[in-house]
Amino acid sequence: MKKSLGPKTVAFPLPAYLVGAYDEKGHPNIMTAAWGGILSSSPPTIGVSVRPTRLTFDCVTHHKAFTVSFPPAGLYVETDFAGLASGRQRDKFAATGLTPVDSALVSAPYVAECPVVAECELYKTLELGSHVLFVGKILDIKAEENLETDGELDPLKVNPLIFAGQGYYRLGGFLGKAFDSGHRIVNREAE
Ligand SMILES: Cc1cc2nc3c(=O)[nH]c(=O)nc-3n(C[C@H](O)[C@H](O)[C@H](O)COP(=O)(O)O)c2cc1C
Repeated sequence: MKKSLGPKTVAFPLPAYLVGAYDEKGHPNIMTAAWGGILSSSPPTIGVSVRPTRLTFDCVTHHKAFTVSFPPAGLYVETDFAGLASGRQRDKFAATGLTPVDSALVSAPYVAECPVVAECELYKTLELGSHVLFVGKILDIKAEENLETDGELDPLKVNPLIFAGQGYYRLGGFLGKAFDSGHRIVNREAE
């Protein structure tokens, strides 16, 4: 028996992205964002939902570009810090020891220590209420070598940081192949 919890923002799991952008003076900044994800395949887009009070909101609006760096599980302390402190008061790259890298494709920095990054130009903006959804067109994904299995990025090698409830998690393990496991039911029906 389920009980109603009301209209809450509940979804599991959520990503823990580091959104990279320059402020108006060109200083690199990162902000943790859990409210986001892939939105379309053609063009390839990724969205992050940002409150207008964040420095990141001003940065993305000004430069019309941002990056999404995918922190590995081991960077949960730095990622949490980037979600506690604002670039208005702190240089978060200096405080965390993370290294900004200038994207050659868009006017935004990404995080060297993150194994996978997306470089995005601002494609669309959608005002939702408390948050504004920035839809980024992915111009390139850059990934460290040796993260692939059979030509695809291997999640267990990437080891992405996961946000759920009020905590940080890592991937628990492989269960089955996608677009394949369901065939067991198709096959069962055919018997
Ligand atoms: C785990 C986590 C997830 C967060 N997700 C979001 C988010 O999706 N959107 C948002 O606007 N703020 C989010 N925040 C809060 C911002 O990261 C935080 O306000 C940050 O200080 C803003 O940085 P800035 O002012 O340098 O842009 C999150 C914080 C944490 C710790």
